[in-house]
Amino acid sequence: MKYLITGGTGFLGSYVAKNLIDGGHHVVCYDFAPNVNSIQQVLTREELESVTIRSGNICDLAGFTHVCQDEKVDTIIHLAGLLKSACEENVPAAIDTNLSGTVNIFEAARICGIKRVVYASSIDAIGQPDFIEEPILRNDVPHMPLNIYGKLKDACEFMGAFYNTRYGLETVGLRYVVTYGKARMRGGSNWIVELLNKPAMNIDSVVPFGDATSDMIYVKDAAGATVLAASVCADRLKQPAYTITGEAKSVREMRDYVAELLPHVDIQLQPGTLELEKGYDGSAAREDLGYTPKYSVFEGIRETIRLIRTEAGLTSI
Ligand SMILES: NC(=O)c1ccc[n+]([C@@H]2O[C@H](COP(=O)([O-])OP(=O)(O)OC[C@H]3O[C@@H](n4cnc5c(N)ncnc54)[C@H](O)[C@@H]3O)[C@@H](O)[C@H]2O)c1
Repeated sequence: MKYLITGGTGFLGSYVAKNLIDGGHHVVCYDFAPNVNSIQQVLTREELESVTIRSGNICDLAGFTHVCQDEKVDTIIHLAGLLKSACEENVPAAIDTNLSGTVNIFEAARICGIKRVVYASSIDAIGQPDFIEEPILRNDVPHMPLNIYGKLKDACEFMGAFYNTRYGLETVGLRYVVTYGKARMRGGSNWIVELLNKPAMNIDSVVPFGDATSDMIYVKDAAGATVLAASVCADRLKQPAYTITGEAKSVREMRDYVAELLPHVDIQLQPGTLELEKGYDGSAAREDLGYTPKYSVFEGIRETIRLIRTEAGLTSI
């Protein structure tokens, strides 16, 4: 099978590419900044040589359609987009990239006769529906996004459902919770840099949101869920979008665990809560996609720190 990954040289895209290569598939990474992103940190030189990298912008429908035709793509995994803070810094660019760009992907798939598009949504699409009393939000809960990023992801889910109903395109949205791991370079979750990246490099840090609990998914699990969504039989797909969970842990417990691994680093905790406070129910993804996380938060944290330290030539933990 040949998979095209938009944003394929970014953080999650690199791990999805690696997972697909391990499964013996052909991978095309479509990205507009292919040389400066995470992929060299995640793939071996041999794996990288097996990937076709095509430069382009998802806002260019004709150019993207041409690449899909030229590469004879079977399935698209659409991960390109601007993250939360970038959306707020440049709203017109956010609408172009995250909403129109996503519609371009659905449209190109329709034109090219590609059967399935798996695309990145986010728990920010759900937001904080405060009219729901339960502390755990089920997969089909009504959405109430709190920010531009979430509002655009929610609109993408609407568009995905439209292309499915109108044209029979298999569109599968994946609402990842906070995704962490080595090679994460940007995003609204910069508190993870304070929690993981700085201490891993022996740098003292101050972790905000010390009173919060967050559902955290290790990037290898997020990539695994993405590949399952891309390959599962169509008749198992019962939902237009799935919440992809990891494990919920308090920021304090995570900080304490990192401090235990790296006792020589001073990791302070600042009080505060995160914008999204409720928990998420991942049972729909478990039942329909066969996805369950393989990494506990502590296992994922340990591996992330170990990989960062190995790459930096620091002593192992
Ligand atoms: N990382 C997380 O915690 C998280 C959580 C929920 C959802 N998501 C979603 O998952 C997807 C991947 O996130 P990530 O963390 O890998 O982000 P990332 O920034 O590392 O990767 C995104 C990639 O998209 C590319 N890109 C951006 N605009 C483009 C355009 N117009 N044309 C072509 N390429 C373009 C960038 O160059 C980058 O390589 C995003 O859609 C994001 O919203 C991420």
